Amino acid sequence: MNSSVAFYKGDFVPYENAKLHITTHALHYGTSVFEGIRGNWNEKENTLFVFRMKEHFDRLLEGCKMLMMNIPYNSDQLCNITLELLEKNKFKEDVYIRPLAYKSAEVVANLKLQDLESDFALVAVPFGLYIDSTRAINCCTSSWRRIEDTMIPTRSKIGGHYVNSILAKTEATLSGFDEAIFLTESGYVSEGAGENLFLIKDKTIFIPPVSDNNLSGITRDSVIKLIKNELNLDIVERQIRRSEIYLADELFLTGTAAHVTAVGSLDSRPIGSGKVGPITKSIQILYFDCVTGDFKKYINWCTPTNKNL
Ligand SMILES: Cc1ncc(COP(=O)(O)O)c(C=O)c1O
Repeated sequence: MNSSVAFYKGDFVPYENAKLHITTHALHYGTSVFEGIRGNWNEKENTLFVFRMKEHFDRLLEGCKMLMMNIPYNSDQLCNITLELLEKNKFKEDVYIRPLAYKSAEVVANLKLQDLESDFALVAVPFGLYIDSTRAINCCTSSWRRIEDTMIPTRSKIGGHYVNSILAKTEATLSGFDEAIFLTESGYVSEGAGENLFLIKDKTIFIPPVSDNNLSGITRDSVIKLIKNELNLDIVERQIRRSEIYLADELFLTGTAAHVTAVGSLDSRPIGSGKVGPITKSIQILYFDCVTGDFKKYINWCTPTNKNL
């Protein structure tokens, strides 16, 4: 079923009524901050489990601070609005939840943040796989470099900076690849167009630091915890060169939309066996058990919509 209700201008409204005026500041200048949150349907328990909802709203509010947006809700209130929205839509399938804080002022030619009102909107839509995470995908190194934190803050999901990701993903898919990997201006590996990156070599896991302009991913954080707690493998956070990827044993991407997706090749060079590697596979299994609420040790990462749980 599709969404029937959205949260817009402080109220629950019919989905089709959540519309903005053409002069809205955010539409012209990308002055918005958004999140992508997954709700995963668990048939056995008759509930959606919303994954790490509070952490997503905490990151949204950090982005609001950077863009000088005051929205009248704290993260607990945003969580409650989300649960109410999901209840009103009566979803019984996996959903993608999209909160959006934006400069709602209806103005033209106004290149500043102060003295412009902001608002918050929320929708949720049924959502399956974003990338086919059942196989190892093929990536290319983007000819577009990852924007630097010296240009636009990269550690939040600021609307305007997604033009960078969209250019990279468009180039990759038009050239027959599944996803693009960004390098920083200085040539270090940053992340995918919409995912963080993990490299495996000799049973050690390497990840680029967030200071290499990647998003401080919530899936990245969850996977780091799972690797440390459940697999007892070493994780080294350090700058990574593109050529290290060519010689890696395994590579995978993480993100709310992409889950944990194995990368089978970069720039047409196979990575390891070119298939989903054994460590990536174990992480995929652990992660899926967490997001669906089946791995009870991590159930505090999941908020059920079913009030009886
Ligand atoms: C550019 C970028 N990097 C990384 C991620 C992964 O972040 P998260 O795991 O919080 O969804 C995303 C997705 O939100 C993204 O858009």
